Amino acid sequence: MEKLRLHAPSKKPFHKTSIAFILLFVLLTTFIFLTVYPNDFWLQSLVTGGCEPRRTRFSHFVDPVALPPPEPPLRILVGVLTVPSTYERRHLLRNAYFLQPNLTANAHVDVRFFLCNLTSDEQRVLVALEVMRYGDIVVLDCEENMNEGKTYAYFSSLPALFEETPYDYALKADDDTYIRLDEMALTLERMPREDLYLGLFIPCKNITDRMGWMTGMAYALSWDLVEWISRSEIPRKHRAIQPYGEDVVLASWLRDASRGKNRFDMNPKMYDYYEEPTPCYSHEFIPETIAVHKLKTNLKWAKTLEYFNATAGLKPSELYRI
Ligand SMILES: *[C@@H]1O[C@H](CO)[C@@H](O)[C@H](O)[C@H]1NC(C)=O
Ligand SMILES: *[C@@H]1O[C@H](CO)[C@@H](O)[C@H](O)[C@H]1NC(C)=O
Ligand SMILES: *[C@@H]1O[C@H](CO)[C@@H](O)[C@H](O)[C@H]1NC(C)=O
Ligand SMILES: *[C@@H]1O[C@H](CO)[C@@H](O)[C@H](O)[C@H]1NC(C)=O
Repeated sequence: MEKLRLHAPSKKPFHKTSIAFILLFVLLTTFIFLTVYPNDFWLQSLVTGGCEPRRTRFSHFVDPVALPPPEPPLRILVGVLTVPSTYERRHLLRNAYFLQPNLTANAHVDVRFFLCNLTSDEQRVLVALEVMRYGDIVVLDCEENMNEGKTYAYFSSLPALFEETPYDYALKADDDTYIRLDEMALTLERMPREDLYLGLFIPCKNITDRMGWMTGMAYALSWDLVEWISRSEIPRKHRAIQPYGEDVVLASWLRDASRGKNRFDMNPKMYDYYEEPTPCYSHEFIPETIAVHKLKTNLKWAKTLEYFNATAGLKPSELYRI
């Protein structure tokens, strides 16, 4: 019955009210103190940290004030260019990228899907669901069926889209390409941060050929080149050059502007899924793979993901037999 009495209306309202006022005063004072002088605590912890030996990230100390872990120095955007209607492929790609083993490279990698304008009521609902669930979709101002100029729309939009948090490198990738993010990040980690153009070069193994280009399976540009594409007349006036593919056209922009001098050919670490011999760009899987291309069927995805141990971490359970 003690408890019930507490809730009963007070017979001495004045007395109860003064206690409430005192409590409120104490709370307010504490609140004001913490609001006005929070840095005292923070600074103190910094100063203390400064006098002690530097703590490594593996330290077992619990910091008095938990600061967020420092952002990795290298930031990479993987832009997968795809069309609105391929919901199932995006689902597979999300699984494939999300389940990759942790990065050993000290890098922050974002995988995003880039679509052109949505054109049907179905897309407006189903793509909206993906945005709400995954937040990894970017809709560019372009027409999906025009078949020319999406590469320009993609690269030229990036600086404005990511003005606050620019990347060091932006990749453009196909949705039938499996990129091993860690291998890619480890490769880029030791590369120049500027004027970089990296991928699988055609003509094969002849990086000195001025007329060559990186194939569209996936290639990386350093952010200064991305910014250049967004402001230069050369790409803007030559978004498409018939009958060439967009990736050949991109190489021509760089050539005309004498840019992309840091060219790196990733052959044989980037290749097409092996079906039949080609001059030089398809072969069996190799452990040091950066990217496998032409994964046009679920079976090819399955074989690729199996080789790279994507399901090795599957936990045994009564719930399934696999
Ligand atoms: C990745 O790191 C997380 C958190 O440290 C850990 O739980 C997870 O098992 C790791 N995954 C792999 C594949 O190593
Ligand atoms: C894409 O959609 C936007 C907004 O609806 C529109 O302003 C723009 O003209 C469209 N672009 C193309 C190329 O269709
Ligand atoms: C490489 O490209 C250069 C310049 O186009 C050309 O002269 C040379 O023959 C090519 N080498 C091979 C092996 O194809
Ligand atoms: C997959 O796992 C096996 C067994 O642990 C290992 O021998 C192989 O090197 C791994 N493959 C790759 C590509 O890492």
